[in-house]
Amino acid sequence: MNIIDGKIISEQIKTEIAAEVRKMIADGKNPPHLAAILVGEDPASQTYVASKERSCKEVGFTSSIYRYPATMSEAELLKAIEFLNNDDEVDGFIVQLPVPKHISVDKIIESINPKKDVDGFHPINAGRMMASLPSYLPATPYGIMQMLERSNIETEGKHCVVLGRSNIVGTPVSVLMSRNSKNANATVTICHSKTKNLAEITRQADILIAAIGKPLFVTADMVKEGATVIDVGIHRVASPDTKSGFKLVGDVDFANVSKKCSNISPVPGGVGLMTIVSLLENTLKAAKKEVYK
Ligand code: GUN
Repeated sequence: MNIIDGKIISEQIKTEIAAEVRKMIADGKNPPHLAAILVGEDPASQTYVASKERSCKEVGFTSSIYRYPATMSEAELLKAIEFLNNDDEVDGFIVQLPVPKHISVDKIIESINPKKDVDGFHPINAGRMMASLPSYLPATPYGIMQMLERSNIETEGKHCVVLGRSNIVGTPVSVLMSRNSKNANATVTICHSKTKNLAEITRQADILIAAIGKPLFVTADMVKEGATVIDVGIHRVASPDTKSGFKLVGDVDFANVSKKCSNISPVPGGVGLMTIVSLLENTLKAAKKEVYK
């Protein structure tokens, strides 16, 4: 059984990005700049944004964080987005989700300039992805595709079962896996909360992508011998085994599933690390105007 190590793969990609940044600087250009808007005090969001900032530093990007209180109005947030849309110093930016309930997430996403939408959440980028046009790919699906490619996992003609149909992961990764392109060309089945005979379907998967948002949902009896399993979930659960009293687990029961499959991505140390480097890759593309002129 092979562990698909997100740490090793993400470090590899960061090294490649850092080399490109050094080249840009040597050519007299500015390094890429990523900005993040953080509304409120959600602890997970604070951790994500801090880790994005650290990753920017590691590869030589500049970055900025705009922090606002949870009481900020939707109009004020739209104004902050408009400012970044027009700031030539900023190549790309994200609004960290979730935003407080009184703010419409759809309105926020649609107000971001698609050329700076390095999360790839804007309907223009989602639509361009569907049409196989150049676009910013959403970070987690892009990270999963990179993990499979860099681990030399054959996808062509394989049956890929995706658990979950979210806009951010399940739906876009199913599109990317089924595309007529190198390192894709899989036959894809999407399963969700209303799927009947779920285990019967997951047992047919050569590649199983679990993005269902339920801790330890995928058990060994749901997995075919020799399958590749990608775990997108990340959950903090109570644990008597750790000093903190908590541990991180994925959507997959790693201890048992790993005995049965041929490749598996762990949690932590898997997809999560890839998501951040994908954001860096999109920001680099934004700075180089590779997607939009
Ligand atoms: N919250 C959880 N994941 C993400 C992400 O990929 N981007 C943003 N903006 N917010 C998130």
